[in-house]
Amino acid sequence: MQTKRQPLVAGNWKMNGNAELAAQMQAVLSEAELSNVDVLVCPPMPYLHHFIGAGFNVGGQNLSEFESGAHTGEVAGRMLKEAGCSHVIVGHSERRTDNGESNTLVADKVASALDQGLVPVLCVGEPESIREEGSFFEFVAAQIDAVVEKVGIANFAHIVIAYEPVWAIGTGKTASPEQAQDVHAFIRSHLAKMNSEIAEKIQILYGGSVKAANAGELFSQTDVDGGLIGGASLDPQDFLKICLAAKE
Ligand code: 13P
Repeated sequence: MQTKRQPLVAGNWKMNGNAELAAQMQAVLSEAELSNVDVLVCPPMPYLHHFIGAGFNVGGQNLSEFESGAHTGEVAGRMLKEAGCSHVIVGHSERRTDNGESNTLVADKVASALDQGLVPVLCVGEPESIREEGSFFEFVAAQIDAVVEKVGIANFAHIVIAYEPVWAIGTGKTASPEQAQDVHAFIRSHLAKMNSEIAEKIQILYGGSVKAANAGELFSQTDVDGGLIGGASLDPQDFLKICLAAKE
C-alpha cells in the first residue's frame, strides 16, 4: 500500500531578491490557504527574519560543516536554528560546482544539520554529460550513498531529497514528468534496499525549471512529492500557484 506523503514546495531564492520582495512574498503566502502542502522559503540570510513566525517553514541555503570557529563568511547550523529555520538546503549543484563541495563535504554538512535538528534538503542530480552517457542512476546513487555512509539510513527519516538534474537548472529545459518520475522511483527503490519504511515516507522533490505551467504535471507523478523552485520562486503569485499545484 502506498503511503500518502504530504507535498513540500520549497523556494530557493539563491542570491536574488531584496527586502521589498521578502515583505511581498510573506504577505502573499500568509494570506493563502495552504493547509495540505508544506511550504518552505529559503531566501538569502539577511531576509530570513521576514519569514520567521509567519506560519510556514524557513530555511537556509547552505551551512558550515563546523559548529563554530574561525571560518569567516560561514554560518553554523545552530545559528540557522536559533534564527528560526527548520530546514537547510545542502549540496545544491551550484555549491558543488562553484565552491567545490564534494560528496564527502556534503555528507558532513548533512550531519551538521541533523545534529542541530534542522531538516537537510539534500540536493542530488547529474550534469548533462552524465545524462547523455546514461549513467545517471549510478551518479545519483553515489551522491546519496556518501550521505548514508556518514549519517546512516535511519537518519533519512529526517531528510528531504531534491532531485535537480543540473541540465534543467535555470535553463528552461525541464525534465519531462517521465524522466523525473524514473529517477525519483529509482531513488526510492535505492533507499528501500536499505530501509523500506523510510523509503516510502521520504519526501523527494523535483527541481529544475519548474514553473506554474508545468508544476501540476510534474507533481502528479507517483514519486514526486513537490518541488525545489528557483527562478519561479521569486514571483509571489507564481510561487503561490506552484504551491497550490502541489495540493491538488
Ligand atoms: P530553476 O527553477 O531556476 O531552474 O532552479 C532550480 C534550482 O536550482 C532550485 O534549487
